[in-house]
Amino acid sequence: MTTSRTQGAEAFHVGDGQCKGATDRTAGITARSGAGVSLPLPSSGLWRFRSRFLGDDRVTTAPAITMGEGDTPVVPLTRWGARHGLNRVYAKLDGANPTGSYKDRGMSVLVSVARSLGAAHLVEDSSGNAGAAAAAYAARAGMSCTVYAPAGAPAPKLRQIRAYGAELIAVPGPRSAVADAARNAGSVPGAYHVSHNDNPLFVVGNQSLGFELSETADALGCDGLPWHIVMPVGGGALFMGTAMALLGSSTDQKRKGTEPEVVGVPRLHAAQTTHCAPIAEAFGRGQSDPATVIRRPTVCGGIEIERPCRGTDILRAIAATGGSAVARDDADILKARDDLAMLEGIYAEPTSASALAALAHLAATGTIGRDDLVFVIVTGSGLKDPGPA
Ligand SMILES: Cc1ncc(COP(=O)(O)O)c(C=O)c1O
Repeated sequence: MTTSRTQGAEAFHVGDGQCKGATDRTAGITARSGAGVSLPLPSSGLWRFRSRFLGDDRVTTAPAITMGEGDTPVVPLTRWGARHGLNRVYAKLDGANPTGSYKDRGMSVLVSVARSLGAAHLVEDSSGNAGAAAAAYAARAGMSCTVYAPAGAPAPKLRQIRAYGAELIAVPGPRSAVADAARNAGSVPGAYHVSHNDNPLFVVGNQSLGFELSETADALGCDGLPWHIVMPVGGGALFMGTAMALLGSSTDQKRKGTEPEVVGVPRLHAAQTTHCAPIAEAFGRGQSDPATVIRRPTVCGGIEIERPCRGTDILRAIAATGGSAVARDDADILKARDDLAMLEGIYAEPTSASALAALAHLAATGTIGRDDLVFVIVTGSGLKDPGPA
């Protein structure tokens, strides 16, 4: 079996969404259905992009395990924008996905392929949202699932994981200990490690965000001005999926006989917390690899990733689009969360609010102009992680 890892390593000029050093967890799992059959495209949701996804042919033929994820609402932030001197800010409400976060995009695709390959048991490590998505899609596919999560993760996230019938293993210690525990379990034959931080199939599903925003930007029009996407970045699976959709692959460009171009591509901005900012620190210093950082406790559990294995690709995508990486401190992020709720009625978790805090900074420093079109991704609902009052 050809793995996406081998294909991807040669194909993408901004990286392929995989993690260096990760091993293929499909080993020992054999294909049992779907090969060679092109399935119809639905009219809505991320599976309508099935034929456009880059990087893994298995996605074309896997029967979709779906709950209608993707095509999330886009709403103007008129009052929030006015406060920050921005006229054209829109929030993409990915907390409206079936399990309450953007993770459903990657997980629907990943679980669909795993199921079509014959996997019966999924293993995931997560700060909470990806674990909930893995557990939910496993339940829908009739598969069993084990989720490793930090013992200190928000209680509603842990409860949600259990509600879907998954086995929950709470791991004390740092987030990296959680990932190590899951990796070891995923090595058992027949178990499929669906880790969003390791598995390139998760990034494939996230390309849907880039495709959707590209359509929305077309519909709204940019008036010749730059357009921007601002989102939280931890491991960078969402960021890299979006970048791959918008920048395309080098093989695509070769097929068309053109050089890769970035005209019409938005500037991609990564938001982090100053408590754990390997990408923002590297960007600030002009480095091409993530900075070595010592993590401090943060309210943004979803982006508490000290060593993002896609870090170099993320920095490359930022450079390719003329974007940036910005870290704000937790107090700013909680203020952004409260402003978003009080000015616009949108309840985001602190991790997601980091993008609003970063956007406020980008507006204040003039990096984003008053009339530029801006999309800020509200990646998860505050219902699962309200954060401190
Ligand atoms: C709500 C939310 N937003 C953003 C992220 C960061 O996503 P990524 O690891 O793809 O950068 C996470 C990760 O857990 C999350 O839960």
